[in-house]
Amino acid sequence: MKTFIRLVATICCLAQLAWAQLAMAQVNDALTYANYDQVKVSHLYLDLAVDFEEKSLKGFAELSLNWLSNDVANVYLDTRDLEVHRVMAKSANGQWRNVAFSLAKRDDVMGAKLTVKTSFQTPKLRVYYNSLPQASGLQWLSPEQTAGKEKPFMFSQSQAIHARSWIPIQDTPSVRMTYNARITTSDDLLAVMSANNVPDTARDGDYSFSMPQAIPAYLIAIGVGDLEFKAMSKQTGIYAEQYILDRAVAEFDDTQVMIDETEKLFGAYRWGRYDLLILPPSFPFGGMENPRLSFITPTVVAGDKSLVNLIAHELAHSWSGNLVTNESWHDLWLNEGFTSYVENRIMEAVFGADRALMERALDAQNLGYEIAELSPGDTQLYIDLKGRDPDDAFSGVPYTKGQLFLVYLEEKFGRAKFDTFIMQYFDDHAFQSLGTKNFVKYLKANLTHKYAGIVSDAEVNEWIYEQGLPSYTPKPTSDAFIIVDDYITKWTSGQLELAQMPTKTWTLHEWLHFLNNLPLDITKQRMESLDKAYNLTNSTNAEVAHAWYLLALRSGYDVVYPAMANYLESIGRRKLIVPLYKELAKSAKGKLWAQGVYKRARPGYHPLAQGTVDAILLN
Ligand code: BES
Ligand code: ZN
Repeated sequence: MKTFIRLVATICCLAQLAWAQLAMAQVNDALTYANYDQVKVSHLYLDLAVDFEEKSLKGFAELSLNWLSNDVANVYLDTRDLEVHRVMAKSANGQWRNVAFSLAKRDDVMGAKLTVKTSFQTPKLRVYYNSLPQASGLQWLSPEQTAGKEKPFMFSQSQAIHARSWIPIQDTPSVRMTYNARITTSDDLLAVMSANNVPDTARDGDYSFSMPQAIPAYLIAIGVGDLEFKAMSKQTGIYAEQYILDRAVAEFDDTQVMIDETEKLFGAYRWGRYDLLILPPSFPFGGMENPRLSFITPTVVAGDKSLVNLIAHELAHSWSGNLVTNESWHDLWLNEGFTSYVENRIMEAVFGADRALMERALDAQNLGYEIAELSPGDTQLYIDLKGRDPDDAFSGVPYTKGQLFLVYLEEKFGRAKFDTFIMQYFDDHAFQSLGTKNFVKYLKANLTHKYAGIVSDAEVNEWIYEQGLPSYTPKPTSDAFIIVDDYITKWTSGQLELAQMPTKTWTLHEWLHFLNNLPLDITKQRMESLDKAYNLTNSTNAEVAHAWYLLALRSGYDVVYPAMANYLESIGRRKLIVPLYKELAKSAKGKLWAQGVYKRARPGYHPLAQGTVDAILLN
């Protein structure tokens, strides 16, 4: 009998070990302190007061826990620069009581590990805390820093690992949770979140939200400011400061059509409403796919819909990223490569094949330049973060190389089969996170092995795990760009006058291709004549101005400096400002000038942009 018991005990123990190992094997994200193989947050309730005076969110986060393992009671959470005052656990009889906790030393990349010792498997934890003014995931703008100049503004940017700077949480894309929130602020401000915003909510400074679909922490988002709402369709609308609201509505009024077209291509939009929040110009990204409420830079409100691919992009994340999520930041290409692909399919469906092709061609060319400058290790789709902050390993590779891989598959298998595959992929992984390995498994089972002999395992492997671009990478080329190339050759060799170029009919894309492909040794006279004819130095299109300033810096056309200073001081979008600072920093004189501009610009930049530009100029 004793032997039998021992045997059973051994088997149980082995089974537990195997289970533990299995669970351990599921921990794929090294950028979190969370023991999410043992306990998972399933729901979050946030109760926060927005204190603009102290630049702080104050209150508590209540975490509902799902225990996966019997023999643990510790909960490890991610934090960065949070002040934690007290942690409480709910006992079986419903009583809340204080529990022991400790905050470890701050790591520069990961933040500070919060250990909560509950001593029993509590169903709920409450962490009372406040964020600090330097929170990496928040920007606090004074009234003077806003367009209206009268009221302050605050917004979050949680991707990749900044949610922990304003919520103590399991900050990994491998854990999904539903959430609700109560946000209090002064009654002349409106708060919105990546949740069920109610357009006609009473403006009383006391706002409630719920997000019934489970999402990872990096998609939890908040914005508070002097916001107005205007509907674009029944399902879509815009939150913005008054100064830009009508222009944004006009610019983005194709959003509903974009949703309808994407549903036709890749399946239902599963999130209810889809609104846009237009942020102050210091927003460090073009857009952020916060569910139900994409965050958008005002720099894409160009007046002619020329930059609305950004909306297609953030909307596309409602399928690739928000519905099916990369399980770690090594796998970012699963979010961004798929989204770049879907974005371009939306653009094709709504604006036609010519424009979509031009956008692919521009991106592919930019990728080529970028790969030439990146360290080879950073040109793989599966990113090796090497202990770095994911922000520091950010590049166009997961976006455009990822997209080209999918374009390659599309061309090989044909649209019908490929679209079916993608739609099924979204459906089979809806509200789940997965990594590159599991994706490859799925790809083989449902596409490359299913229709064998078309794309080999070796090719799939090369795309994902090898550096640079495969020799057989698709090369998107647009007829319109070939014509522009011809004008460049003829004009720069003196065979043609500027007035003979049909620039009046050029789209933004033709302009960008033109500017990106002028020779860097272009003469000052030619730069002057371009500027005289088209006033490029004062272009109101943020992308055109960017491309022009970059060319001016490279070719030594100094006339742009005052306008460029103004640009750098009024925009904080990293993609637009960082390449300019980098180019300036290449010469001692340029660097000195840039440092002067940056001194004035820095207070208005987001912490993320400050970090990036600091590294370029302050060394
Ligand atoms: N999710 C990204 C922004 C992001 C990526 C933030 C990684 C932090 C870490 C967003 O969807 C995005 O890709 N934005 C681009 C849009 C562009 C490719 C159309 C941007 O901001 O420029
Ligand atoms: Zn994206």
